[in-house]
Amino acid sequence: MSKKFKAIVIDNQNEKFTREIKELSIDALKDGNVLVKIDYSGLNYKDALILNNGGRIVKKYPFVPGIDFSGTVEESKDDKFKKGDRIILTGFRVGEVYFGGFAGYAKVNSSFLVKAPKELTNLQTMMMGTAGFTALLCSFAIKAREELLMGEKVKDVLVTGATGGVGSIAVMVLSKMGYDVHAVTGKKDKHDYLKDLGAKNIIDRKEFQGESKLLEKGIWDGVVDTVGGESLTKILAQTKPGGIVAACGNAGGIKLNTSVMPFIIRGVKLWGIDSSAASMKRREFAWNEAKNLVDFNKLKNLTKEHSLEDLIKIYPKMLKGEVFGRVVVNPNK
Ligand SMILES: NC(=O)c1ccc[n+]([C@@H]2O[C@H](COP(=O)([O-])OP(=O)(O)OC[C@H]3O[C@@H](n4cnc5c(N)ncnc54)[C@H](OP(=O)(O)O)[C@@H]3O)[C@@H](O)[C@H]2O)c1
Repeated sequence: MSKKFKAIVIDNQNEKFTREIKELSIDALKDGNVLVKIDYSGLNYKDALILNNGGRIVKKYPFVPGIDFSGTVEESKDDKFKKGDRIILTGFRVGEVYFGGFAGYAKVNSSFLVKAPKELTNLQTMMMGTAGFTALLCSFAIKAREELLMGEKVKDVLVTGATGGVGSIAVMVLSKMGYDVHAVTGKKDKHDYLKDLGAKNIIDRKEFQGESKLLEKGIWDGVVDTVGGESLTKILAQTKPGGIVAACGNAGGIKLNTSVMPFIIRGVKLWGIDSSAASMKRREFAWNEAKNLVDFNKLKNLTKEHSLEDLIKIYPKMLKGEVFGRVVVNPNK
């Protein structure tokens, strides 16, 4: 008899959107050549959109969401993976097109999987999850100013949405890289939290709202922007000559109203980050750097572990910008 496991199943029958915890059997997992027993998944902004109403991302129902997970290989049809291997999965449209991580098991293509570094536990890799992986990619994009582009040394780096998953880990990683991190937040009661992660200075989110000049005083050598919208317009106008803006998110809006001035007068670089489609080489590089750049004791303090049942109650808070730190999901809880 096929093994049973718990999963969040979203459905959209007759235009009525539902999300429920159901018991599924392994036979329900149709895609992929590696069966993984999931230990942990994470709640990301995209997951919250999908749990809310499919987020115009999920097209086929019923569906199991969850864009990332860590776990242990149970069966593999690819020699690169064997039973017992610990793996990480982020992106590749898992949890969007293929059944995802809010479940006890998942079956995925072996080319999507990274072997977990031996220094990190499966809980630690999902304490980071897609958010942490993205924060690393953004931080290395900024470091490229002094390395790849052989430009001036990076000093002042701005992080927007700083108390969020990507933002919190970016603050930690960039300060570990030796930069002065300026954290932008809308949460007045989280200034100490951000300072503890390594932020040197805290800026109110309101400072980045409203009209922006074509060029303002250049302040930032680098920016990790998780917010987009009008704050990104202002950020581009405030970036120093040769500065790099790593844009990964849209928590504040998808529209970008800017001019060519920051690009042609200051050589500002707008560097888009898409963690979902990152190459395997970059994935392995970033995950192996995590042990050097992330303080896992601190990360543990800003992570809360929840069951699938809890997740259904929590995700709306993320859409309202009320979540801070990381939410790890234990499907076996
Ligand atoms: N490109 C990629 O590969 C990739 C990967 C992961 C995530 N993302 C995107 O990155 C963004 C952040 O993801 P996350 O997982 O860190 O989400 P999150 O934990 O919900 O964090 C988002 C943070 O943005 C701030 N925020 C929320 N609403 C805002 C608004 N209306 N205006 C300005 N700031 C607002 C809040 O921080 P404060 O209260 O501190 O301001 C919030 O905590 C999302 O848009 C997500 O889709 C992209």
